[in-house]
Amino acid sequence: MESFHYRDSRLYCEDVSVADLAARFGTPLYVYSEASILGTLESLQSAFVELDPLICYSVKANSNLGILKLMARHGSGFDVVSQGELYRVGLAGGEGSKTVFAGVGKTDEEIAAGLDAGVLMFNVESEAEMEAIARVAASRGRVAPIALRVNPDVDPKTHRYISTGKKQSKFGMDIERALRAGQAAAGMASLEMIGIHMHIGSQITTVEPYAGAVAKGVEVIRRLREMGHPIAWYNMGGGYGIAYKGKEARPVAEFASAIVPGVKAAGCRLAIEPGRVIAGNAGILVGRVVYTKQSGDKRFLIQDAAMNDLIRPALYESFHRIWPVDVPAGLPAPPEDYESEIAGTEPWDVVGPVCESGDFLAKDRSLPPLDRGDLIAVFSAGAYGMVMASNYNTRPRAAEVLVAGGEARLVRRRETYEDLVRQEVGI
Ligand code: LLP
Repeated sequence: MESFHYRDSRLYCEDVSVADLAARFGTPLYVYSEASILGTLESLQSAFVELDPLICYSVKANSNLGILKLMARHGSGFDVVSQGELYRVGLAGGEGSKTVFAGVGKTDEEIAAGLDAGVLMFNVESEAEMEAIARVAASRGRVAPIALRVNPDVDPKTHRYISTGKKQSKFGMDIERALRAGQAAAGMASLEMIGIHMHIGSQITTVEPYAGAVAKGVEVIRRLREMGHPIAWYNMGGGYGIAYKGKEARPVAEFASAIVPGVKAAGCRLAIEPGRVIAGNAGILVGRVVYTKQSGDKRFLIQDAAMNDLIRPALYESFHRIWPVDVPAGLPAPPEDYESEIAGTEPWDVVGPVCESGDFLAKDRSLPPLDRGDLIAVFSAGAYGMVMASNYNTRPRAAEVLVAGGEARLVRRRETYEDLVRQEVGI
């Protein structure tokens, strides 16, 4: 969270006051830090340096063109899961040859778009999809580069909604099936199997699942090579967990040390698809208190950032640190540790204006006294925040601002009511 810090009890993003941004651009407002994004990109590059990694930023985490452009300018590749994401990467100046195309349901049209964009490889999720890729490539006189997505059946020990590497998950192929697909692919002239792909889950906070998965992957590579496939890439996916609360995250270097030896021994180039670790702590969501309200012994802080802006607490009961943008005199910066009592605070349910009991950002959260007009910051909101936003309750989606040093740039304007009805026809 260093790019977001308190100076004289006011929250700053790099050198820009967050209260000033809220005054200029309104609330709810997403604020992102370029320095944080680039700092993480660099730390990933250096953690995996031994393998000269291709970092394919996972566009789904935060697909704002301002961020994609920044990543492309700094040499990043991309992981896309739809033609829409591929379109964004093209607009941002991303290179096809550094883009991997994943997703369990690629249509023929999407496969063709991937071929036209010259993607580095398609991550293949099923035998049926492999056949579709072979057919579309053949019909265009092309050879499609593919990587089999192998499901290693390891438990990443994360929330069940974001766990993908277990046998029961819809993603990838179990090892036996992958080997059968390898056999089938050997007879398909319009495919070239150049890699394997794994992604075992998201918000993973221990390194053992990676080590276990890589050990299985190395064996799969050996078998696929025996079949004659020129496996040159090991795509290890993303999933590196971040600190939402306190110290739950592991440094990326620790993940690297679980992954590098196996991939190195297999003689492969490494691709990784980090999303959350790059964007998550590079962004906050700013809300303004509309009302405070007491009901029984519960205190509600009703502010203008709602579940339609940030759905993670409602969907996964996920924890986001929340603290006032202007800290009242005598109170500290946001606590590092929510286990112990925080002096000068009282428990609040932080809720939005949407008509659902699930519309909350935090429950029983210790916060200093707050009142109408005060601003709050919801931290770690840069990944899976704006990308999962909706117009529920006909609420315009928030604006987004990208900060670099002392400069703030609007990278998405706030939606208007006209924007919200624009697609509706035949009325
Ligand atoms: N690669 C693949 C194939 C993926 O499915 C994902 C995420 C990633 C890479 C990036 O994972 P990351 O490094 O960000 O953990 N909406 C959920 C997270 C869903 C993750 C989906 N797949 C959340 O808000 O926690």
